[in-house]
Amino acid sequence: PMVQKSVQELVLNGDELPEKYIHKDREGGDLDVPLVEIPVVNLGLLSSLSTSKEELQKLRSALSTWGCFQVINHGMTPSFLDEVRDVTKQFFALPMEEKRKYSREADGIEGYGNDMILSEKQILDWTDRLYITLNPEQRRLKFWPENPKAFRDILNDYTIKMNMMTEVILTAMARSLDLEDNCFLDQYGKEATMTARFNYYPKCPRPDLVLGVKEHADASAITFLLQDKEVEGLQFQKDNQWFKVPIIPEALLINVGDQAEMMSNGIFKSPVHKVVTNSERERISLAVFCLPGLNEEIGPIDRLVDESRPRLYKKVKNYVSIYFEYYQQGKRPIEAVKI
Ligand code: SIN
Ligand code: FE2
Repeated sequence: PMVQKSVQELVLNGDELPEKYIHKDREGGDLDVPLVEIPVVNLGLLSSLSTSKEELQKLRSALSTWGCFQVINHGMTPSFLDEVRDVTKQFFALPMEEKRKYSREADGIEGYGNDMILSEKQILDWTDRLYITLNPEQRRLKFWPENPKAFRDILNDYTIKMNMMTEVILTAMARSLDLEDNCFLDQYGKEATMTARFNYYPKCPRPDLVLGVKEHADASAITFLLQDKEVEGLQFQKDNQWFKVPIIPEALLINVGDQAEMMSNGIFKSPVHKVVTNSERERISLAVFCLPGLNEEIGPIDRLVDESRPRLYKKVKNYVSIYFEYYQQGKRPIEAVKI
């Protein structure tokens, strides 16, 4: 298979900026947008034994306005989060031939590589990635780096935490809407998959022309994001304006994906977001996507449909394949399932 040059190699070779990364109509006016304090939620106050009404209210309001919140008191220590960031940086700093041991294969998405080319017109994202499926049943260890040494153990521990948090958050989302505890979890299903995407954004010579990740909403039910500890770049859109997300080193950012928007009949918003590039500093992040099982029917929970709030979305299986079809054509995927 043809090996596509990583963004890191372009930079190390001092190549001229390739055409296919340039957004021709971009002016870079969004490099200096307002920083926004998105709500900070205390996970300890959401867990089943000690749910706080106020915290649930905060969650509901965050998810129905911004579609995201920062979560603290999640049971992972700041030093553990630093270790996760460190192994991420160490992996991308390995020599190319070492990273290539984990290269994505022609027909898969798992593994190391850069932005996947889905269509000819696509403008590529300025990022190298490592995709790993975390769901235990489907683990393919050949994509789990053995170098750096601590990588697998740390990712394993991180996965356990993500599984616990998924359950707590999906339950709290239901409670915040006065629904039965399990109604999001039931649709999410027992065969749900969880995928990690390690992102590496090398320094970019032209942040005014190039994006780290172009604007999109996530295909997931929910997404957990561990941000770089020092370098900003992520932006969310609200009311047609872009806002920078501040870094809270000990927090994770959680956002609604399209499938939770569908389940909540549009009460929770799957926010449009993007990543800008930086000419001075490289940036890393780790996104974990929680995806409902492929055979689950995903759609509005019955109790959220009534005369005042008609059904907004169809029920569909395997939303991810619909998502990629629309994404490829430059369309907003959730439009495909709107009634
Ligand atoms: C993304 O998955 O949308 C990128 C998140 C980030 O790198 O901050
Ligand atoms: Fe995203």
